[in-house]
Amino acid sequence: MTDTRDRLARDLETARARTLLLTDHDEPELLRQHTPLLSPLVWDLAHVAQQEDLWLLRRGDARRPGLLPPAVEALYDAFAQPRAVRARLPLLPPVEARAFGREVRGRVLDRLERLGRDDDGDPFDFAMVVSHEQQHDETMLQALAIRTGPPLLGAGTPLPPGRPGVAGTSVPVPGGPFVLGVDAADEPFSLDNERPAHVVDLPAFRLGRVPVTNAEYAAFVADGGYDTPRWWSARGWAHRQEAGLQRPLYWSPEGTVRTRFGVLEEIPGDEPVQHVTFFETEAYAAWAGARLPTEAEWEKAATWDPVTGRRRRWPWGDADPTPALANLDGTALRPAPVGAYPAGASAYGAEQLVGDVWEWTSSGFAPWPGFTPMLYADYSAPFFGGDYRVLRGGAWSVASSILRPGFRNWDHPVRRQVFSGFRLAWDA
Ligand SMILES: [Fe+2]
Repeated sequence: MTDTRDRLARDLETARARTLLLTDHDEPELLRQHTPLLSPLVWDLAHVAQQEDLWLLRRGDARRPGLLPPAVEALYDAFAQPRAVRARLPLLPPVEARAFGREVRGRVLDRLERLGRDDDGDPFDFAMVVSHEQQHDETMLQALAIRTGPPLLGAGTPLPPGRPGVAGTSVPVPGGPFVLGVDAADEPFSLDNERPAHVVDLPAFRLGRVPVTNAEYAAFVADGGYDTPRWWSARGWAHRQEAGLQRPLYWSPEGTVRTRFGVLEEIPGDEPVQHVTFFETEAYAAWAGARLPTEAEWEKAATWDPVTGRRRRWPWGDADPTPALANLDGTALRPAPVGAYPAGASAYGAEQLVGDVWEWTSSGFAPWPGFTPMLYADYSAPFFGGDYRVLRGGAWSVASSILRPGFRNWDHPVRRQVFSGFRLAWDA
C-alpha cells in the first residue's frame, strides 16, 4: 500500500502541476472561450477541484456539503452546464479557483496518507480523479490550439527522427482469438469501460504499420478528395458540405499549418495527420482502397502476443512508457514523425499505436460484456450507444500515468478539435 500511496501522490502532483502550467495566463486569457465546443480555462480550473471534492472528500455523495456553496458548485456540473454556456456563468475568478483547488488538494493528501490505515477507501478512486484532471488538461490543450494569438507554450521538447519508407506500409495480423479488455486484478487503475477482459475471435486483417501521414493525406486533398462524393459516406458528405470542410483543421490552402499553439509552419509531411473528423478519415480510407480498423482489431494488434499467447501491458511489452518508446505527456506539443519509435512496435510490428495521435476506429461506443460502472457512474454509461466513434491509443497530449492500450476515448464523428488521426486497415 505504501507504493500505491506514493504513486497516487506523485500522479496527483503531476496532474496539478500540469493544470497550473496550462492555466498560468492572465485573467482575460483564462476567461476567453475560443469555441462553444470547449470551456474557458477558468471553468476547468475550478471544475477539476470540484470533482476531486465530490469523489474523494464526499465519496461521490453529492448530498453531503462540499467546500463550495451549493449555488457555486452547481456552476461546475458538466451535465447541467453545457460547454457553450460556461463563459457566461458567474465563475470563480482564477485566484479563488486556485485557492479552492489548494484547499481540496490538502485535504485529499491527508486522506491519501490514511488510506489502507484508518481509511478503507479504494485507491482506484484516487486514480480515477487523476485521470479526470489529466483528461481536462488535454481539453485545455485543445482550447489553446484553437486560440489565435502569439505562441503560448514554448517550442516543445525534441522528438526522435522518423525512418523513411515506413509510411504507407502495413503488417499482417493472423486470425484467431485474443483477450480484449482488462480486469481490475491486472490493471487496477483501468476505467470501467475497459473492463472486463474477454475473449474475442477475429478474422485475419492487415493494419497500417504507422498512422497516415500529412504527406499521404495531402495527396488525397490534391486529388480532389474533398470534391468527390463517392469517397464519403452519406452523412460524411452532408457534413463536409455543411461545414465547408476542405482540408484538416489548421491547414491553409498554401501548404502551411498553424500548430504548436500559435506557430505557423510548412506542413510536415512525415508526421501523422491530426485534427481530422471521423468522416474525413472514412473518406480517405475509401480513396486509398482501405477501411478503418475496428476497435477490437486495433487492440489485438496493440496488445496480443501470439508467441506467448498472452496480452502485453503495452505494445512493446510490460515495461512502462519512456520517451524512447512513445510520444506522450504533452511536452513535445506535436506528433513525432512516423518511424520514430521502432522499439515501441507491437508483437505484430505495428508502431506508434500509443502516443502521437488519437486514432479513429470504425466502432461505436458500447460496453464490454459484463460492464460494471465505477464510482463516477456517469463517466461511460450515458454515452453508450450514442452518436460516437471510439478513438484509441492516446495522442502526444495524453499523460502516460492515465493511459493503457485498452483506454477508450469517444467523440462525435464530426469533431476535430481533438488531436485525432488514424491508421488504415484491410481485410486479409
Ligand atoms: Fe469533468
